This record gives sequence, structure tokens and C-alpha cells, in this order.
Amino acid sequence: MRTTLQLSNGKNIPSLAWGNGSSGLTASGEMAATLGTAAIQGGITHIDTAQMYFTEAETGEAISNAGVDRSTVWVTTKVSESSNTKTTLEDVRRSVTQSIARLGSIPNLLLIHNPFVPQPGRIGEFWTYLEALVKDGTLEGCSLGFSNFRPQDIEEVFKVATIHPVCHQLEYHPYVLVHLEPVLALHRKYNIVAEGYGPLTPIVRHSGGPLRPVLERIAERKGTDIGNVLLQWTIQSGVVAVTTSTRSENIKKLANLFKQEDLTDQDLKDIEAAGRSVHFRFYSEHMTEEFPNPALPDGEVFR
Ligand SMILES: NC(=O)c1ccc[n+]([C@@H]2O[C@H](COP(=O)([O-])OP(=O)(O)OC[C@H]3O[C@@H](n4cnc5c(N)ncnc54)[C@H](OP(=O)(O)O)[C@@H]3O)[C@@H](O)[C@H]2O)c1
Repeated sequence: MRTTLQLSNGKNIPSLAWGNGSSGLTASGEMAATLGTAAIQGGITHIDTAQMYFTEAETGEAISNAGVDRSTVWVTTKVSESSNTKTTLEDVRRSVTQSIARLGSIPNLLLIHNPFVPQPGRIGEFWTYLEALVKDGTLEGCSLGFSNFRPQDIEEVFKVATIHPVCHQLEYHPYVLVHLEPVLALHRKYNIVAEGYGPLTPIVRHSGGPLRPVLERIAERKGTDIGNVLLQWTIQSGVVAVTTSTRSENIKKLANLFKQEDLTDQDLKDIEAAGRSVHFRFYSEHMTEEFPNPALPDGEVFR
């Protein structure tokens, strides 16, 4: 299993991220900072944060408290601040500069949090603002991407982009594969790496459906747990796994993920086949408007 994935701009992104945007962590800045430090000290080299989580300052704190060099940790953040009136380059510059101040450094990757951050019809224009900030040095060395973009949003960016978007962060697990087909086709076309959040959704927010027996069989054979199997499936599919945990035993498990033996090609195929029989999206506020769901059952869902 690869510890990093290469982006189209030649940079290598760590393939496992610990996110501080989940409930519990966003509610307590202190937890985001102390658990972030534990994750980094345990060997995790990628922290996922966002303006919207109010945990950017704690991300910077976690890195400095871990006692590691900033260059050894990859930081992904997301811009969400935009004015209700006509957003200008200066509005976006101010918002991004505040993120950099909270983080204590320029992030490695900056994403537009969702396609509704720019005003309607202005995704391309917003993208050119981010490009301007890279070009004038405000975001020196920072890679750019987006999150929760539908196919039409991705195409809007490519109409104008002079700096190639390298990553797309989106809910990614076996139960959204059919819905994501048109999105993943654009990833292949434009050489975009997916960062998959909610990778444990099929087991923590769903009863498990047809995937559960497949995951359990593989986990038993490998002497691991079904969470690890899902995360390995994500990374071996070429997707950055953006997960999280608030418990030190799970953070330790995460940090040990790369010591696991790889899943076999047959394991990968079996997980994908079971996943494709159900459509279940947990973060339903994203990517559902004007992007119809597939006609599949949703399995047995925890409500
Ligand atoms: N771009 C976006 O719009 C967006 C949206 C949502 C999330 N995100 C990012 O993605 C990150 C992760 O999101 P997520 O919470 O949806 O991730 P997830 O990986 O699907 O779920 C994490 C949950 O799984 C549990 N867990 C961890 N390891 C486990 C294991 N081995 N077995 C069973 N359960 C386990 C954790 O519980 P414990 O705490 O009890 O360990 C935690 O509640 C967020 O923090 C955020 O940074 C981004």
C-alpha cells in the first residue's frame, strides 16, 4: 500500500489523513489540538482541516506541539468564506491570509469547500482568484483543488484553469461508487486525485448491508478489523483516505495501517461488487442538487 500518491503537479500527498472536522473535534478545539498531536506523534503525516471547522489554529498547534518539522506534515484546508454580495479577489485574499495566520504556515493544499462557496455562475472566477494568490506568492507552493464538486462544477473550473486542480475531496466509499461514476470519469480525464472523506460510512453510519459479510471475511483472514479493511480498500484504490478518530486506540490502529499486508486484487473486486449494489450517501447536503442519485436500494440504514 502506498504511503503517498503522486499529484499531477509532481507533489506527493500522504495517502492517509486524520481530519479534525468531525463532531467532537469541531466542538472542542482542545481535543482537535491534543488528538492532532497524538496522530502526528503516532506517525500520521496529513491533517485535514477547514475554515468551516474552526480548527485551523489547533492544526498549527498540533504540529508545533508534536515537535516535528512543519515540512514533514501535509496540511489540507478549505476556503468557505465568501461574501453574500460580489466577492472580489481582495475578499478571497483576506480570507486565505487569515487561514495562513491561524495555521501558522501556508497549507500544502487549499480546496474550495463546496460549489456553493462562490456565488452562482462564478466558480471559474473564484478559481482564478486562488490562482492569483498562488502566482503572487500569498499561497506560494500550495496546491489547489476543490471539494464536493459535481461534474458541471469541475467543468467550470477547467474552462478557465491555468493552474491545474490536483485533488478533489468528496465522500468516497463503496456505497457511492455508482453515483460517482461521472465524477470519477472526469478525475481520469483531468488527472485529479480523489481525497475520500467518510471512508468508514458503510460501517459507522449504515448497518453494513451487503458489504459487511465481505469485509468480515477479509478481516478475519487477515487478523484485522473491518475499519482497517475499508481504509486499505480506499488507499489501494488510489484514493487518499480522510478519516478521523477521537479515541487513542483507533488513532494507533490508523498509524499502523501501513504495516498491514495488502488486500488482494480479488478482495478489492469483491468489496467493489458488493458496494455497487447499494447507494448510500451520508453527507447528503453535498453533491445531491442537480446530480441525480442512481436507482439503487440504500440497504438498511442507521437513522
Ligand atoms: N470536505 C467535506 O465536505 C468533508 C465532509 C465531512 C468530513 N470531512 C473530513 O473528513 C474527516 C473524516 O470524516 P468522517 O468522520 O466522515 O470519517 P470516517 O472515517 O467515515 O468516520 C470516522 C468515525 O469512524 C470511527 N472509527 C475510526 N476508526 C475506526 C475503526 N477502526 N473501526 C470502527 N470505527 C472507527 C471514529 O470513531 P471514534 O472517534 O470513536 O474512533 C469516527 O467517528 C473529517 O474530520 C473532515 O476532516 C470533509
